Amino acid sequence: MSSLSASTDRRPAEGRDRNDLAVKVDDLSITYRTTFEKKPTLKTALLQFGRGGRRVKEVEALKNVSFEVPVGTTLGIIGSNGAGKSTLMRAMAGILPPTSGEVQVWGRASTLLALGVGFNNALSGRENVILGGLASGLSRKEVLERADEVAEWTELGDFMDLPMRTYSSGMFSRVAFSVAVHMKPDILMVDEALSAGDAQFRDKANAKMQELRGQSRAMFLVSHGLGSIKEMCTEAIWLDHGTLMMQGKPAEVVDAYMAHSNVEQTATTTEDI
Ligand SMILES: Nc1ncnc2c1ncn2[C@@H]1O[C@H](COP(=O)(O)OP(=O)(O)OP(=O)(O)O)[C@@H](O)[C@H]1O
Ligand SMILES: [Mg+2]
Repeated sequence: MSSLSASTDRRPAEGRDRNDLAVKVDDLSITYRTTFEKKPTLKTALLQFGRGGRRVKEVEALKNVSFEVPVGTTLGIIGSNGAGKSTLMRAMAGILPPTSGEVQVWGRASTLLALGVGFNNALSGRENVILGGLASGLSRKEVLERADEVAEWTELGDFMDLPMRTYSSGMFSRVAFSVAVHMKPDILMVDEALSAGDAQFRDKANAKMQELRGQSRAMFLVSHGLGSIKEMCTEAIWLDHGTLMMQGKPAEVVDAYMAHSNVEQTATTTEDI
């Protein structure tokens, strides 16, 4: 697993919702279009003399999703694998343009998304802190001011001077998380970035997020740890095959999702992030 710390600063002109909304998603649809080479099976290869066809696969990852997030909300996003959660986070972070509809974000977002890109593995943890900070939209001066604190927070010691390719996934998460939370984001988005962390790190990360809750405009948390969603969030939404099924109190949304997916409340389903 690897993560990306990115940022957006898309402050729309004075709007009527500017003061009380952090994010507004309006009729958002996102369709991925992938062309691929269909490898012939032995039978079709014999019939077509080895000609594979170019195919196009379209996935409607989000379908007409609308919701509003008032300032002060910690929004949990739940749903099964492939439901569209990471797609929604990428759209809100401004990494993915809507196919149709609109996303409005008031404030600078710092995101911790499992995207497989972002940090440069050949560079040390310390160098990636600078890279991540600059990618978050801070000035060089601001990044340098915070760099030591970010490195310290990871508790990785000498490892911070080694290339990140030598890190375990949990060590990688520590650096990515530390960068994201120390860049004073207005809006923090965390997509399963903590799943590789050990108990001590999760505890520390949870405490840090609680602390940021008071300072930031809004927070978004994607997790399959339904216990964490109930504990950390003030509101939740549930996505199913790209459709928004429900928005409401975390406990109610989690219960509805679990009833729908036919799973029981066990240690596995409520496991922490
Ligand atoms: N870059 C991409 N190109 C094409 N299809 C994609 C891409 N990213 C995601 N998809 C498709 O979009 C749908 C939604 O994927 P997404 O990653 O948003 O799901 P998710 O809810 O985050 O799932 P998970 O719980 O497994 O992380 C899936 O069907 C997936 O195959
Ligand atoms: Mg995902």
